[in-house]
Amino acid sequence: MSVSQSRKTLLIVGASRGLGHAMAEEFLARGWNVLGTVRGGSRGRLHELSERSAGRVEIETLDITVPEQIRALRSRLAARKFDMLFVSAGITNNPRETIGEVSTEEFVRVMVTNALSPMRVVEALHDLVSADGTLGVMSSGQGSVANNTGGQREVYRASKAALNTLMRSFAARHVDDRRAMVLMAPGWVRTDMGGPDGRLSIEESIPNVVSTLLAAQGTPGLRYLDYLGRTVPW
Ligand SMILES: NC(=O)c1ccc[n+]([C@@H]2O[C@H](COP(=O)([O-])OP(=O)(O)OC[C@H]3O[C@@H](n4cnc5c(N)ncnc54)[C@H](OP(=O)(O)O)[C@@H]3O)[C@@H](O)[C@H]2O)c1
Repeated sequence: MSVSQSRKTLLIVGASRGLGHAMAEEFLARGWNVLGTVRGGSRGRLHELSERSAGRVEIETLDITVPEQIRALRSRLAARKFDMLFVSAGITNNPRETIGEVSTEEFVRVMVTNALSPMRVVEALHDLVSADGTLGVMSSGQGSVANNTGGQREVYRASKAALNTLMRSFAARHVDDRRAMVLMAPGWVRTDMGGPDGRLSIEESIPNVVSTLLAAQGTPGLRYLDYLGRTVPW
């Protein structure tokens, strides 16, 4: 078997920038092959990583809110097997906007992007992941209902809590599944979304996120973990 055939492969959705891009880079550095998705056709940081990767980073196109694009990606990848699927794509809205203030359109936009669409990706692509592989989705500590004593970020929190519940329902429906499933809380990280005041740099979060996902490999069932591998209360 050639070296490239023996490498594990990650399928990561939402790898153009931020945490998803950093995860692609980190998995590559740890010897994995990576297939990352971006929206649209424009050249970005993942293309630069791909060019430096000696063929180990492939790029596909996917807007997770467009079901036809999910179906098309599923059929393009039909012959492939992955060791891990990780959905990182997500958005936020104005964090100060309360549920009393948010427009219906904005509420729907955040919920569809952060809760419905990642689950559509999981539903459509999970059978491309090997029987002992890993399914991961980027949640947030803000998705914890139990830890929500401070309020704020009401709509974003609700979207990640919904994502967590939907992933629990998926896991309950696949109770005999041997794959590890992880809802990841990466910490508050300085990205375009996290902003300059985030507590962690990408370098402080993502290598730990990747180590936590690798440690979860081979342990069946769903867990809600932070970047240091600690269980987050639902
Ligand atoms: N940063 C934090 O502190 C933090 C904390 C907890 C959880 N998270 C979660 O981590 C994930 C990544 O966040 P980030 O900080 O890396 O944010 P970011 O820097 O704003 O990057 C967001 C990523 O999601 C992609 N994306 C957004 N909507 C998409 C769609 N409809 N289809 C496909 N891709 C889409 C973006 O693609 P484009 O480049 O095409 O826009 C980009 O790659 C999100 O799920 C976020 O909720 C972040």
